[in-house]
Amino acid sequence: MSSPVLIFSLPTIFLILLHSSADASSDQQQYQTLTTKPQYFNPKLPLRPLSSSKRFEGSSDMVHLRYHMGPVLSSSPINIYLIWYGRWPAAHQLLIKDFLLSISPAHTRRASPPSPSVSEWWRTVTLYTDQTGANVSRSVVIAGEHHDTAYSQGSHLTRLTVQDVIASAVRSAPFQVDHKNGIYLILTSEDVTVQDFCRAVCGFHYFTFPSKVGYTLPYAWVGNSGKQCPDFCAYPFVIPSYMGTGVSGPQHLVPPNGAAGVDGMISVIGHELAEVATNPLVNAWYAGEDPISPTEIGDLCEGLYGTGGGGGYIGQVMRDGAGRSFNVNGRRGRRFLVQWVWNPELKACAGPNALD
Ligand SMILES: *[C@@H]1O[C@H](CO)[C@@H](O)[C@H](O)[C@H]1NC(C)=O
Repeated sequence: MSSPVLIFSLPTIFLILLHSSADASSDQQQYQTLTTKPQYFNPKLPLRPLSSSKRFEGSSDMVHLRYHMGPVLSSSPINIYLIWYGRWPAAHQLLIKDFLLSISPAHTRRASPPSPSVSEWWRTVTLYTDQTGANVSRSVVIAGEHHDTAYSQGSHLTRLTVQDVIASAVRSAPFQVDHKNGIYLILTSEDVTVQDFCRAVCGFHYFTFPSKVGYTLPYAWVGNSGKQCPDFCAYPFVIPSYMGTGVSGPQHLVPPNGAAGVDGMISVIGHELAEVATNPLVNAWYAGEDPISPTEIGDLCEGLYGTGGGGGYIGQVMRDGAGRSFNVNGRRGRRFLVQWVWNPELKACAGPNALD
């Protein structure tokens, strides 16, 4: 720890004491925290069930993230084709779209959200290049939306029928077949069950099979876990009930937009988009020898949201006046809590709210 941090630590302690006596929220007093800066806090939380075995908690020398010569999404802009599967409240759709539309840098400095921002978070993803040296695009747009409110493939999807959902979406105008810049993002509503959802994953990405869809298209799926397994997929906004805290127990973090299931999805969407952009056909950037189960730039940093994360700590994140946690700012004053991703230059997990 460098000396400036030590110099500032004493006044900080006073601020924290003042803060906690001013709004004596019992929630906040129960965190074990390592706090070094006002507004920042680093809660220690009960571990997420089924914590990813891929998660990196050792020396960075152990991580061999390698490039396997395949494409990355370097054409600009990246076109997201959004598929809303099931019934979605408009407010939740707006929230997710605000996150997606916060990824591109704003056109003017005035319109830019304050730092740390979602587009600064995406900067780490744009450090990845293909064999021609082209970087992942900084610019991401929503190119189309399809509403599958009739549950065309039923209320349970498998990894294969997810592809049927895409197939029926690309057959319907205005969706197009976009090999070059497209990501097909399927979001299932909280009443839809999906193979492996909750049991093993909160989202996944892959590419479509020509035999199913007619084309090879990169896609990602993320489920709304609000009702199914929030303590797994909406963690750390919901903490496992077996920890004795109850689903709305005192130790969970308060979601930035008041919707644990959807606020939790946003971090998973960030994770999957970062991986699709750097490994769209699962032959570009990943660690490990097994392309069937690659460890990608989001996997390496699951559960880390700030400096000093690991061992039960999620890292230094911010808290607003109402106690809601976030680590990045987005458009229209929105705030989000998004996991960090692996930075190939630093060879470490990184994000724009880093304190060092
Ligand atoms: C592209 O990626 C390289 C390698 O990580 C990085 O050094 C460079 O800054 C990136 N360029 C842009 C424009 O982001």
